[in-house]
Amino acid sequence: MKIAIIGTGNVGSALAKGFAKAGHKVITGSRDVSKSKNNELVKYSSNISQKTIKEAISEAGIVVFTTPPIPAVEVAGDFPELKEKIIIDTTNALFNPPAPYKTAFEGIKAKTGSSKVVKCFNTTGAENMENPRYGNLGIDMFMAGSDPESKNIVAGLAKDIGFEECYDFGGDDRVELLEQLAFSWINLAIFQKNGRNFAFKIIKR
Ligand SMILES: NC(=O)c1ccc[n+]([C@@H]2O[C@H](COP(=O)([O-])OP(=O)(O)OC[C@H]3O[C@@H](n4cnc5c(N)ncnc54)[C@H](OP(=O)(O)O)[C@@H]3O)[C@@H](O)[C@H]2O)c1
Repeated sequence: MKIAIIGTGNVGSALAKGFAKAGHKVITGSRDVSKSKNNELVKYSSNISQKTIKEAISEAGIVVFTTPPIPAVEVAGDFPELKEKIIIDTTNALFNPPAPYKTAFEGIKAKTGSSKVVKCFNTTGAENMENPRYGNLGIDMFMAGSDPESKNIVAGLAKDIGFEECYDFGGDDRVELLEQLAFSWINLAIFQKNGRNFAFKIIKR
């Protein structure tokens, strides 16, 4: 699969490496393609190339937003071709909502008109996205959105990069719940000082 990743910070880099390792073609789209992090990613894998945001979006079937929420919504409004793509929103708008929208997910849907927007890769730290394995155990990922076909593809991507399972939280109305789950992780990691090397895992009997 050809995957565009918009933003090459903590989350963008972690996902780019994971997708590339799993054999997907990754095109990072950034506002300054000469930045050193992009060069590091290109050196990391021949499956990663760096392009402008416009080129990345037009070449890929899946577009992953890993910028802060406000630029995610701004960029989403600039490219009409996004209407036809599967879009993954990894952002958390807990401290900086992209008004008038509560979440980037809501803004991206409104600006692109795409029905294929999936919230995923927002509920744990970037370190866990780069390495979702704890010994023999894979941690879990969570997603939400209204298009089952897109969610199947996104769940497959989560498993490709090492997550054990990608649980479906439900439709668009569960996106804010996923952002609260992210806040629960942030609360434990940062405010309660547990550090970033832990993850949520569903156990069953
Ligand atoms: N960090 C985590 O562990 C984590 C976990 C889950 C979810 N999230 C969410 O994921 C998102 C990204 O977090 P992060 O930690 O990866 O952030 P980050 O390291 O600060 O990276 C943000 C990226 O967004 C790009 N960007 C910012 N403004 C832009 C604009 N106007 N146009 C194009 N690109 C722009 C930056 O590009 P430049 O390099 O050009 O500045 C950078 O590559 C946030 O919404 C965050 O809430 C983060």
